[in-house]
Amino acid sequence: MAQATRLVLFLITLLPGIQAGLSSPSCRCFPGDACWPSVKQWSDFNATIGGRLISTTPLGSVCHTSKAFGAYDARACADLKTVWPLPATHYETAWSPMQAWFTNFSCNPFLPPDAPCTTDPFVRYAVNVSSAVDVRKTLAFTSRHNIRVVIRNTGHDYLGKSTGPGAVVLWTYHLKHMESLHYTSPVYSGPAMRVGAGVQGFEAMAAAHARNKLILTGNCPTIGVTSGYSQGGGHGQLASLFGLAADQILEWEVVSAAGELLTVSPEKHPDLYWALAGGGGGTYAVVLSGVVKVYPERRTATATLTFDGSEVDPRVFWDVIQHFVVAVLPVVDAGGVAVWAVIEDSFSVTPITLPGGTREQLQSHLQSTVELLKRHKIPYVNHNATALFSALRSIAADDAVISGISMNVSRTQPPNNAVNPAWRNSAISVTLGTTYNYTDRAVDVQRQELMTKELLPRLELLTPGSGAYLNEGDFNQPDWQRVFYGRNYPRLEAIKVRYDPRDMFYARTAVGSERWVERKDGRLCRRGSGI
Ligand SMILES: Cc1cc2nc3c(=O)[nH]c(=O)nc-3n(C[C@H](O)[C@H](O)[C@H](O)COP(=O)(O)OP(=O)(O)OC[C@H]3O[C@@H](n4cnc5c(N)ncnc54)[C@H](O)[C@@H]3O)c2cc1C
Ligand SMILES: *[C@@H]1O[C@H](CO)[C@@H](O)[C@H](O)[C@H]1NC(C)=O
Ligand SMILES: *[C@@H]1O[C@H](CO)[C@@H](O)[C@H](O)[C@H]1NC(C)=O
Ligand SMILES: *[C@@H]1O[C@H](CO)[C@@H](O)[C@H](O)[C@H]1NC(C)=O
Ligand SMILES: *[C@@H]1O[C@H](CO)[C@@H](O)[C@H](O)[C@H]1NC(C)=O
Ligand SMILES: *[C@@H]1O[C@H](CO)[C@@H](O)[C@H](O)[C@H]1NC(C)=O
Ligand SMILES: *[C@@H]1O[C@H](CO)[C@@H](O)[C@H](O)[C@H]1NC(C)=O
Repeated sequence: MAQATRLVLFLITLLPGIQAGLSSPSCRCFPGDACWPSVKQWSDFNATIGGRLISTTPLGSVCHTSKAFGAYDARACADLKTVWPLPATHYETAWSPMQAWFTNFSCNPFLPPDAPCTTDPFVRYAVNVSSAVDVRKTLAFTSRHNIRVVIRNTGHDYLGKSTGPGAVVLWTYHLKHMESLHYTSPVYSGPAMRVGAGVQGFEAMAAAHARNKLILTGNCPTIGVTSGYSQGGGHGQLASLFGLAADQILEWEVVSAAGELLTVSPEKHPDLYWALAGGGGGTYAVVLSGVVKVYPERRTATATLTFDGSEVDPRVFWDVIQHFVVAVLPVVDAGGVAVWAVIEDSFSVTPITLPGGTREQLQSHLQSTVELLKRHKIPYVNHNATALFSALRSIAADDAVISGISMNVSRTQPPNNAVNPAWRNSAISVTLGTTYNYTDRAVDVQRQELMTKELLPRLELLTPGSGAYLNEGDFNQPDWQRVFYGRNYPRLEAIKVRYDPRDMFYARTAVGSERWVERKDGRLCRRGSGI
């Protein structure tokens, strides 16, 4: 059937006048296909973008004797294994996904040297983006050759949205520029920062701090700011005080699927502005930068709390956790955020913060939990969170890690954007995790199924009609349109079709992705094309 694909391409080349009347090929061109550009074509393309084309060499190739790379080096491999779990190992590359699941165990450093090592599951090339022109030229090239395109910044994505077999990556990580400014528009007048798409949380915080300002970033300092994080919603320690990261963006600078450089704001392209703020990364356009609100710095009270439940009755352990989570609600309604986790027999709050608050205020809120811990008795709980905590307890019994972020992101009137409406009346975002086995894919597949079919449904049963954070959801979520986007889905879908009518940008669980299927070998095809 690759034959049919070639035939259609051939017709397009010869008869440009009737292009519109032909259906586009059913699958994206895949490495090895006749339509795949020759070495010369890649090299010519590289020259047009100033030598910014990077080809993929999987990090783990130093651990394998595979002929494809011939890079086996036992010592380099041992070093690689020690840094493998660190985000920087992956975000400094243009291609390595942080979530090992999406490498399909190829070039897996934890397997023996003779285990398979190929680029098959990875993106094939990356363009190290420095300007709108690089993006435009890349889109023209991938469009001409019908090649899959993926947008990547740091590669933190949990759902595999910044990677894709046989794709070309638009890598925005080196767009590191920042600028302080005073922004004036009908909706906001005040201090702001222009933040390049490649700027990471720690860099933005340092730049804001140098001007005595606060900027909203994630709890993990190495994720981006104006890339997938803000475009997907974005929470962090300041979210109860100022709202979500998507709520802070005043303006986007993007390159559209058609290659146009656009300034996007509530006044200019308001539909695209709305979609980019919360409607998911990698979907509507390539963001080069965003203008983000900043706030005067203020004193912040912060605390951590950890306790070990291995020596206590599990009932007491879970009652104390339940007590904490209920007792913390007034803190989040007062502008605080608590990040907490249950990992095996230990509970930890890392941290709880109350911006603008004092040590005494925070202490008084935590007092009752601390007393409870001291007494080891079960007090009267005035909110009924029993059902939630019995579900969490059953999930923990299945060896899952539970983490929660308690926050209130609608203390102030949220702007009109595409953030999942479920955020606005939630008190906790609960994330579940199962451990990843680096050497046994079958175990991982089994755990992933447990997550989708058993663990998450136990929570979904308790929160009918609610949703999940699209950046921290399950990539196998069967009902993702409703769960990740809520009632915004139809409008987002219309905006997707308007700005990206040819589906240049595909990402798993992104708006419009139901039109495509990723085959077992990674080939991306139109759904129903049957090839
Ligand atoms: C360890 C860890 C901690 C985390 N902590 C938090 C947290 O505290 N708060 C929170 O809200 N989230 C958190 N997340 C989730 C995080 O928000 C997402 O992983 C997010 O997708 C990261 O965005 P990125 O652009 O840095 O990553 P990438 O993986 O590079 O990209 C993510 C998505 O955005 C798209 N994208 C990237 N760059 C662009 C661009 N320039 N233009 C258009 N689309 C783009 C990609 O196509 C992809 O769909 C965490 C994730 C990890 C792994
Ligand atoms: C692109 O060109 C640059 C500069 O000549 C070169 O260093 C780089 O290796 C080339 N990329 C590819 C994929 O060949
Ligand atoms: C990408 O480009 C930036 C400059 O824009 C440069 O500093 C960096 O070294 C390049 N990275 C790679 C891997 O080519
Ligand atoms: C709390 O909810 C549980 C389960 O929904 C119920 O069994 C219990 O009676 C409730 N307790 C109170 C005090 O309302
Ligand atoms: C968030 O705080 C506001 C104002 O303090 C309150 O009205 C609202 O009910 C809170 N939302 C949630 C989900 O607790
Ligand atoms: C991974 O799976 C293998 C084989 O099933 C098992 O021996 C090993 O202990 C597991 N490792 C972890 C960290 O769970
Ligand atoms: C993943 O691995 C399986 C088994 O080796 C293989 O059949 C499949 O083609 C691979 N998929 C990708 C995307 O590499």
